[in-house]
Amino acid sequence: MQALPDARELLARTFGAGGETWLVHAPGRVNLIGEHIDYHGLAVLPMAIGRRVRVAFHRRDDRTIRAASVGYGRREFAWTPDLAPAAAGDWENYLRAAARVASVLCGERDLRGVDAAVVSDLPAAAGLSSSSALLVAFTLALLRANGRRATFEELMEVLPEGEQFVGTRGGGMDHAASLASRAGCASLIEFEPLSVRPIPVPEDWGFLAAHSLETAEKSGGARHEYNLRRQAGATALARLGFASYRAAIAGRPEESAQSLDPGPERDSFLHVTSEAARVKQAVDAMVRQDAAGFGHLLLESHASLRDRLKVSSPALDRLVEAAMESGAAGARLTGAGFGGCAVVFCRKPDMPAVRRGLIERYYRARPRFDEERHLIEAVPGPGALCPEMA
Ligand code: GLA
Repeated sequence: MQALPDARELLARTFGAGGETWLVHAPGRVNLIGEHIDYHGLAVLPMAIGRRVRVAFHRRDDRTIRAASVGYGRREFAWTPDLAPAAAGDWENYLRAAARVASVLCGERDLRGVDAAVVSDLPAAAGLSSSSALLVAFTLALLRANGRRATFEELMEVLPEGEQFVGTRGGGMDHAASLASRAGCASLIEFEPLSVRPIPVPEDWGFLAAHSLETAEKSGGARHEYNLRRQAGATALARLGFASYRAAIAGRPEESAQSLDPGPERDSFLHVTSEAARVKQAVDAMVRQDAAGFGHLLLESHASLRDRLKVSSPALDRLVEAAMESGAAGARLTGAGFGGCAVVFCRKPDMPAVRRGLIERYYRARPRFDEERHLIEAVPGPGALCPEMA
């Protein structure tokens, strides 16, 4: 991958020296298990990774927001309370979403815009949450420029809503992981009520984020498919007369599912309820340092996403297979699916062999492969609100 410019340097080069320069970071995340269930209010187990979005900025005296990013170009708009979206798929929408979120938190005070440089080493549209990391980082920058320190809870009230401005009705997993993860830990995120419990990742467990080399554009066709899955799960729940998935899980979900007609609603219901159980078991396995058990749960999760929710792709299925043939202890698609990444789990001593095996079995035939971008060691890192990120 091309070397990244320093965010401060890019800021000075694009907008001049300006006043005091501030810097905020927000990491991407890899979801270990608990896929397509956060938007039903169920617990998930992601971890923040070392790759992140960095925003260097100067505060302005007016309400203008100017931002530059190497790959995506320069944008400028006035920060008004009634901001409308820019053209679909334009990165400015994330800046606008952040401005909307930040103005909710700042209230009607005199808002001050920023000149900002955005630098990221997170591959886009890969299931590693680069877009949420951008939303989180830019929101934190705008809050800081306006002297507003928001708590995790306050941010979580508004960030997932903000993302809907960009077009995806996602849940809160990505923002929570990017904000509140701890170094060396996975995050067990619960939503009702909101909480994050750090689960230490055993020292000799390693993870790779392996790109299928098919992109999952969240603002494109994948968005429609994502929203359909969410809808099917909600409709199934309503047909069965449960007030929430938690209520459904407290009963006998497999038996309840029998009264649904075969098809997407029943399949979604079975995916969601079984995935919630796997998250609990995976946390237990991590705490017990049971690598075989944890790996097995990842494979079961992938099978359910492939066969029931139908969000995998032939490339992702092949990637998971190639990981297992190369000595991984488990693997599954991570994020929304429809392309993007798989998370590959192995013991650290096995990682070099797993990496070599994946290159041999999966990537060798794909000339677009760039190891630095597409086969990333996912090391559990701190979230944006951790003191070490200040
Ligand atoms: C996307 C969303 C998340 C979550 C995953 C699927 O990444 O942003 O909130 O729903 O898909 O688990």
